[in-house]
Amino acid sequence: MTSIIYVSSATTPFTNRELAALLSQSREKNARDGITGMLLYKDGTFMQVLEGPPAAIRKQMLSLSRDYRHDALNTLLDQNVESRQFSEWPMAFWNLNTIDPAAVPGYANFENTPLTSPDFQSDPSRAQTLLLTLRDGL
Ligand SMILES: Cc1cc2nc3c(=O)[nH]c(=O)nc-3n(C[C@H](O)[C@H](O)[C@H](O)COP(=O)(O)O)c2cc1C
Repeated sequence: MTSIIYVSSATTPFTNRELAALLSQSREKNARDGITGMLLYKDGTFMQVLEGPPAAIRKQMLSLSRDYRHDALNTLLDQNVESRQFSEWPMAFWNLNTIDPAAVPGYANFENTPLTSPDFQSDPSRAQTLLLTLRDGL
């Protein structure tokens, strides 16, 4: 199993409607391809974890790198894993612009950190912690 975490910046900010369309398209394709994970959106930037069969993940990363709706795609972590951490979700989602920080234990630690912060690049385990914190808040 491969697990990848990346961050990127929306070329233009997504509306709620555009986010909903992206999610329904992604969930359908991910379910077909055996991919699970979580997408975060905050201030025009994304963080996403994708996990699944190596070939499916590589193919999806290629599609993502060609998607004009975002750029500055930066892979934080690319690893082999024994098991999935988002097995129940073809693509879980949080819009962090509208989250109530008090409703998700542990999120307050990250509230003021941009998804594209160098902190996540220098220590990708922080990105993993953020993603798992939000998974547990679902
Ligand atoms: C931030 C972001 C996250 C995305 N996540 C997924 C995803 O999890 N699964 C997916 O199928 N497409 C996702 N997409 C859409 C893909 O970039 C692409 O449009 C889609 O996979 C179809 O690609 P294809 O035309 O190469 O088949 C995402 C796009 C963006 C901008």
